[in-house]
Amino acid sequence: MRIIVDADPGIDDALALYYLRAQPDTEVVAIGTVHGNVPVDVATANALRLTERLNIDAPVAMGAAKPLAQPLMTAEDVHGPDGLGGCAGDTPTSTHVEQSAAEQLADLARQAPGELSLLAIGPLTNVALALQIEPRLPQLLDQVVVMGGALNVPGNITSYAEANFWHDPEAADLVLGAGFENLTIVGLDVTMASHAPGEWLEALPQDNYARQFLKFYADFYESFLGRTGFVPHDPLAAAIMLHPELATYEEDRFAIELTGRYTRGALVADQRFLAEGSPFGRDIATERTKARYAVTADKDRFLDQL
Ligand code: BDR
Ligand code: CA
Repeated sequence: MRIIVDADPGIDDALALYYLRAQPDTEVVAIGTVHGNVPVDVATANALRLTERLNIDAPVAMGAAKPLAQPLMTAEDVHGPDGLGGCAGDTPTSTHVEQSAAEQLADLARQAPGELSLLAIGPLTNVALALQIEPRLPQLLDQVVVMGGALNVPGNITSYAEANFWHDPEAADLVLGAGFENLTIVGLDVTMASHAPGEWLEALPQDNYARQFLKFYADFYESFLGRTGFVPHDPLAAAIMLHPELATYEEDRFAIELTGRYTRGALVADQRFLAEGSPFGRDIATERTKARYAVTADKDRFLDQL
């Protein structure tokens, strides 16, 4: 599979790149960066560092510095001030391309219609902007896998909202309403249930770089959940993209709550069974095309692969 990655690295984003790099028949064609876990310049430096360290031969384009309609909010408490748990290290030797991440995504999709897939593991600002540049994006991309949302479980950043969608609710809503035909959403229902225990981390060699940068993230998760280990959100999205049989799905039509006092940024779905042409079809049911939402994942198989 040939994949464009849109990310906010970010510790679990970094681990997702490790995962993709190790998978056979998988090519990371390009990377776009976005605000989210850290400001976009920090995320961009990390993406460049990771392409160098992992030998990923792909251009890195810097994307949106802020959400479409709300102020920038970042999550250094989860990922560290440098986005890699204090382990980012030296300034990268390579540089990002001149195009923005949204332009890069639109251009690549136009150049190879139907050939490229998109893995979006940060806020969806770049994807929303790419849709303004190229409204045919939903027809030009093959698979689209988005990490975000909490449907039948609580949120993480607020009671109802998952972080990626909460960081730019307007962008997420635009993407979910754009009519992507092969859209899979990997949310907290499966990522929280795929928690990697402390022993998983301890099985990595002491000098393993991922083990080092994961320590900060695991310390955060221990304070958040009260048990050792970490939640591999973005690597699981990457794994489900390459191995869809790792998960089971429900199919719904989705939107993002934009106005709720306590629910802004929450993923909402029409989960009713509606007969074709039912008069009860309104709002989400009539405005949106269906997408797949992962409801269970084979945690053991995934963690073994990871
Ligand atoms: C998502 O938010 C970020 O902290 C992670 O990188 C992941 O993409 C999980 O809610
Ligand atoms: Ca991320």
